[in-house]
Amino acid sequence: MSVHSSLKRRTVPELMAFKGQQKIVALTAYTAPFARLLDTVVDMILVGDSTAMVGYAMDDTLSITTEQMTAHGRAVVRSTQQACVVIDMPFGSFQESPEQAFRNAAAMLAHSGAAAVKLEGGAALAQTTRFLVERGIPVLAHVGLMPQYVNTMGGFRAQGMNDEAAALIERDALAHQEAGAFAVVLEGVAEPLGRRLTESLEIPTIGIGASPACDGQILVTEDILGLSGPRIPRFAQQFADVGAVIEQAVQQYADEVRAGSFPTLEHCFGVKRDD
Ligand code: KIV
Repeated sequence: MSVHSSLKRRTVPELMAFKGQQKIVALTAYTAPFARLLDTVVDMILVGDSTAMVGYAMDDTLSITTEQMTAHGRAVVRSTQQACVVIDMPFGSFQESPEQAFRNAAAMLAHSGAAAVKLEGGAALAQTTRFLVERGIPVLAHVGLMPQYVNTMGGFRAQGMNDEAAALIERDALAHQEAGAFAVVLEGVAEPLGRRLTESLEIPTIGIGASPACDGQILVTEDILGLSGPRIPRFAQQFADVGAVIEQAVQQYADEVRAGSFPTLEHCFGVKRDD
């Protein structure tokens, strides 16, 4: 039976049960049009804080707020029926204390309707994961290349490239698993580490620049559609050039408006029509 045969929304426990059975297919969406298009195809939609860079043209993800993320989450949940929607906790909304994290996560879920939160952080944040999970908030952990740590990492670069660094990421992922995370995003890590973690962890790994062996994959939707400008990350692949289609349509619209061939009386009100 197809996993998409019913209209029931996919749940967090269902995603966990995918481990070893089928790949988790995930993409980001921040707005209704994209969410609608992804809904029947993917298992999980992440309302990622990458919208700071992709949607708001910011240099990094640090300035997006819980209010902005919640509004995007609400738009995505409203326009979907099947995919499990997970919302990113923005920088500064959870690192202070487990209590701060719970307050913000609970409000974000209540006001967006998302099913779970994602938080970036190593083993030090595992107690926050536990605090949320024990109080009814499913957590998707995110380790490895963590864009919210751009200033401590000194840029967006692959992580875990030597044994010592890999061991730290392994410790981070394990700590979140033990704290109750339902899955872990592995971003920008050395491939052997991604593979090893997928084999050793009981929860699903969702890779982005990690390993083909991961239990699932996630990418930024704009990257796969040719909507991210000329350069996309090495770990992404452009599957279509939607940007070119949009440019062509916009050019045609502009040409027709300038030529006076759009709109016609067909597009007007109070005009007697033949039909
Ligand atoms: O913010 C985001 O979109 C993410 C994914 C790319 C994993 O964290």
